[in-house]
Amino acid sequence: MTGPDTPLFLDGSTASHDALRAAVAAVLEALTSTDHRAPFPSQSPAQLRELATGIEPLPDDAEELGDVLADVEDRILANGARVTDPSCAAHLHPPTLLTATATELAVAATNQSMDSFDQAPAATYLEDRLVSRLAALAGLPATASGVLTAGGTASNLLGLLLARDHAGGGANVDGLPPAAARWRILASMAAHVSVRQAAAVLGLGRDAVIAVATDDAGRMDVAALDRCLDGLRQTGAVPIAVVGTAGTTDTGAIDPLDALADRAAAAGAWFHVDAAVGSALLLSDRLRPRLAGLERADSVTADLHKLWWQPIGASALLVRDGETLGSVREPADYLNRTDDGDVLNLVDRSLDTSRRFDALKIVVSLRATGRRRLAELVEHLVDLTAAVGAAVGGRAELELLAPPQTVMVLFRCRPAGLDDALLDGVNVDVQRRLLASGRAVVGRTRHRGRVALKLTLTNPLTTLADVATLLDTVVATAVDVARTTKERAA
Ligand SMILES: Cc1ncc(COP(=O)(O)O)c(C=O)c1O
Repeated sequence: MTGPDTPLFLDGSTASHDALRAAVAAVLEALTSTDHRAPFPSQSPAQLRELATGIEPLPDDAEELGDVLADVEDRILANGARVTDPSCAAHLHPPTLLTATATELAVAATNQSMDSFDQAPAATYLEDRLVSRLAALAGLPATASGVLTAGGTASNLLGLLLARDHAGGGANVDGLPPAAARWRILASMAAHVSVRQAAAVLGLGRDAVIAVATDDAGRMDVAALDRCLDGLRQTGAVPIAVVGTAGTTDTGAIDPLDALADRAAAAGAWFHVDAAVGSALLLSDRLRPRLAGLERADSVTADLHKLWWQPIGASALLVRDGETLGSVREPADYLNRTDDGDVLNLVDRSLDTSRRFDALKIVVSLRATGRRRLAELVEHLVDLTAAVGAAVGGRAELELLAPPQTVMVLFRCRPAGLDDALLDGVNVDVQRRLLASGRAVVGRTRHRGRVALKLTLTNPLTTLADVATLLDTVVATAVDVARTTKERAA
């Protein structure tokens, strides 16, 4: 029961602790009682909007917490995407480790902000310790450092900001020099959109990113990179960064990082690796060699709310030389004073000011799980993905579009007797119909200009049998859609 005397804040008293316990118990009740739902709600977007519109977010007077939660449970929680369902397999955000989930409470309740030592004393050093450990795992030298960010997009932005400032000209202080009009970033055509976004934010313009061709597996084609570099040289353009992707969003491909590091070094360019997906392979002795060359990066995006099973947000930007992060430092008398002696103010490394103490949930859950167990989970998913790829390849109604490399299976439906020209439309309808029914969340993207479906296998509890069932559903839906499409075409 909540009432006017229920404590609103922690204040060290038993009453406030009891109130927190009661609130947590009530939230847990709402959470667990909606944990058996379908992977996606079957209500239409209009119905979901109506359910949300029926909520008054800011009533004049307090409502009973139990009533609020019951309402939110019915309208919202019960109608959520359920990332823990094996048929919820479109995107990269995973089920979260229970220990990390629980520790989120401590992050919120203590609400320390990571910008300055006087707001996050021990927390500051824990984050510093964590990013150093991650950098060491990535094979970066002792000079390495890093900072946590809200996600892979933010990590890529910071990495490319450092690349821009490394190019010279004092862009962070004076603005872009005239020479910046000729600056280019080379990333594969399968690189994440956040690379182009970052170029726009950094004043270079999206089109400063040159999309280098990929091979059939979706890895950057090194010969194509060489041709691009030659082309730039001939036109007087300057490659300021080479971006490798370790685990592309659609095929999970890992670029040949060593070869990219060679090219970046020869061109005097910054080498950034977007290992948002692939960084988890570092956990496994068996899989780590696939990232050979990562240790030569100037900056690395390691997104921990993907295959490290952390709740959003949890990402890191790791840098080879901690000094380079000084590029973002902006002194403020109230915050990162220099007269406080030897204290660390993490705002000096970050594009954020107030920032969550995400390091706590990460460290607690990594310790409570252990690297070996995490490695087993990653290995299971990579092996499962390979097995699913083989299963897709073995089914006449499905076509595998790229060899599975990390945790993505890219394919399309090819129902018998259907004209090729109709395939794109059928695959769009299959994905839409599955989503609308709430039975499965399958990814939809484009591969070499054609509509493709995608499974992204981030759930360590998913088995081959689960995916076989999902594929049965996909095929049955495709047969159905094909029938109506043919009837319509006739
Ligand atoms: C390769 C890659 N990099 C970066 C990102 C962006 O990460 P976030 O969604 O955490 O911003 C993604 C997201 O899927 C990704 O696949």
